[in-house]
Amino acid sequence: MFVALERLLNLEEGYRRTFQLAGRNLLLMVVDRQPLLLENRCPHQGVPLHNATLAGWVLRCARHGVEFDFFSGQALNAHCPALTRFELVYDDDRIGVDL
Ligand code: FES
Repeated sequence: MFVALERLLNLEEGYRRTFQLAGRNLLLMVVDRQPLLLENRCPHQGVPLHNATLAGWVLRCARHGVEFDFFSGQALNAHCPALTRFELVYDDDRIGVDL
């Protein structure tokens, strides 16, 4: 079942919004014109990532400074699991997920 999250025309560079869906806290972001959906939870110790800073393609959690490659999800400066990402689905003028 397709669940729409956002209209494509709203996905501007720098877009960042959280969603509660199926018991998960999700974070939709646009970086380098590419939308990505990830769990809004740092794999290090679980704090939300919606206030993380972004430098190029590196997402830096505000709590302890672990940095993640935004596209691969891999931690760059710590031994830590990768970001949890979700596949985005396009449907007409909307973007969302299949549940
Ligand atoms: S909780 Fe994100 S770096 Fe520790």
